[in-house]
Amino acid sequence: MNLTTIILAAGKGTRMRSQLPKILHSIGHKSLLHHVYDLSVAMENNTINIVIGHGAELVKKTLADFACLWTEQPQQLGTGHAVQQVSNQIDDNSMVLILYGDVPLLQVETLKKLLGKINEKTLALLTVNLQNPTGYGRIVRNDLGKVLRIVEEKDATEIEKKITEGNTGILAVQGKALKKWLSQLGNNNAQGEYYLTDIIALAVADGFEIATSSPANEDEVLGVNDKLQLAHLERVYQLQQAQNLMRQGVTLRDPSRFDLRGLLEVGQDVEIDVNVIFEGENRIGNNVKIGANCYIKNATIGDDVIILSNCVIDTAVIGANSRIGPFARLRPETVLATDTHIGNFVEIKKSIIGQGSKVNHLSYIGDSLVGKKVNIGAGTITCNYDGVNKFQTIIEDGAFIGSDTQLVAPVTVGKNATIGAGSTITKDTPDNQLTFSRSKQMSLENWQRPVKKEKL
Ligand code: UD1
Ligand code: CA
Repeated sequence: MNLTTIILAAGKGTRMRSQLPKILHSIGHKSLLHHVYDLSVAMENNTINIVIGHGAELVKKTLADFACLWTEQPQQLGTGHAVQQVSNQIDDNSMVLILYGDVPLLQVETLKKLLGKINEKTLALLTVNLQNPTGYGRIVRNDLGKVLRIVEEKDATEIEKKITEGNTGILAVQGKALKKWLSQLGNNNAQGEYYLTDIIALAVADGFEIATSSPANEDEVLGVNDKLQLAHLERVYQLQQAQNLMRQGVTLRDPSRFDLRGLLEVGQDVEIDVNVIFEGENRIGNNVKIGANCYIKNATIGDDVIILSNCVIDTAVIGANSRIGPFARLRPETVLATDTHIGNFVEIKKSIIGQGSKVNHLSYIGDSLVGKKVNIGAGTITCNYDGVNKFQTIIEDGAFIGSDTQLVAPVTVGKNATIGAGSTITKDTPDNQLTFSRSKQMSLENWQRPVKKEKL
């Protein structure tokens, strides 16, 4: 059977107290709506229709690559009214699944279980038993346990408010029947809204059975209405990801101090210390160790690499068996070959560092091509920028750059060349020779330190 998924995402989200439409706020750097979209995409034979309203243009622009239909609900007159906007696009014979754009952590298995309950004369409803059901619509059942209707909190009697079975809002039913009930909805209730939840009583009146199922975990169906709930679900989501990685064999020193905002592929025997943040797409080989407080974005990290604490790595490739940090910064387009050492307070940008080369202390290497087995002494700077244009520095295999050297680009240091410490190199240097540029050291025998002048 064909599936039509309708995602309700038109609401303003007043309690977020933000200019940004609620569903564009994110968990793990992915918008709430994107989480729900990804879940929908995981279902087969599915047409996705997203109902938007508040901030519609921004939502469409931000999520332009979604393979879905967008339907606008110009005024937000309730969840039933939202689904009515899509009504004429629903195929009678399709199965319709309703999801909420602000319920981001629902799992595929839960949806499959729910959809498994559906047939010609059944409406499947996802409900949840809650310790504190405040704010939720309540599931009203008869003495035999059959679902009769849903009552919204604001319309509920004191007795109904004691019901702990809450409506998640997520349901599935055949298209033809849904369209009929949608056309029968009224707004004669406490909020003056067209409630989607009223279709339950209409379904029962039409002889439908209401089949319920529940998520494995309550967090799956929690919605985001304010920043506190957003923060809560961020932690829930991060813990899920941490647990997934641990199941794959990763050692996390503390899963509650780990953040993954994107994708992470890992090899075997990877160890990650506390407060490490991964963003974008990262790939890590086998036997990699990552120290505390590192921020790592779009990195490819080879086998046996050690990243010591407090490193910032952005869009870089790190060859096998290299050692980075502590306190190193690798900026975009850095490519380190195997066996490299990048030490503390070293910044590397748009440079290739050859096999076995070392930049161990306090250096800036930008727009450079560094060969194999090069040793770059402490405090070496590639002066790659004249204030207007950028230039390249080439350091050939086996070169040794003395400490506190400035390499004024464009410049090439020859193979096995040695540069004396404290040099300012403005011209290419020959292979195998020592080059330095500094005045000769001298001492003044009769020199006196200045003395403080008497005040007049
Ligand atoms: C709804 C349910 C309630 C359930 C709760 C679960 C109804 C009447 N009530 O209540 O039974 O327990 O969700 O979280 O359905 N939306 C639109 N257009 C509108 C109104 C809402 O697109 O005109 C969207 C919102 O953006 C949101 C979702 O529908 O994604 C739910 O709306 P919300 O106002 O949060 O419903 P609740 O009052 O929480
Ligand atoms: Ca809500």
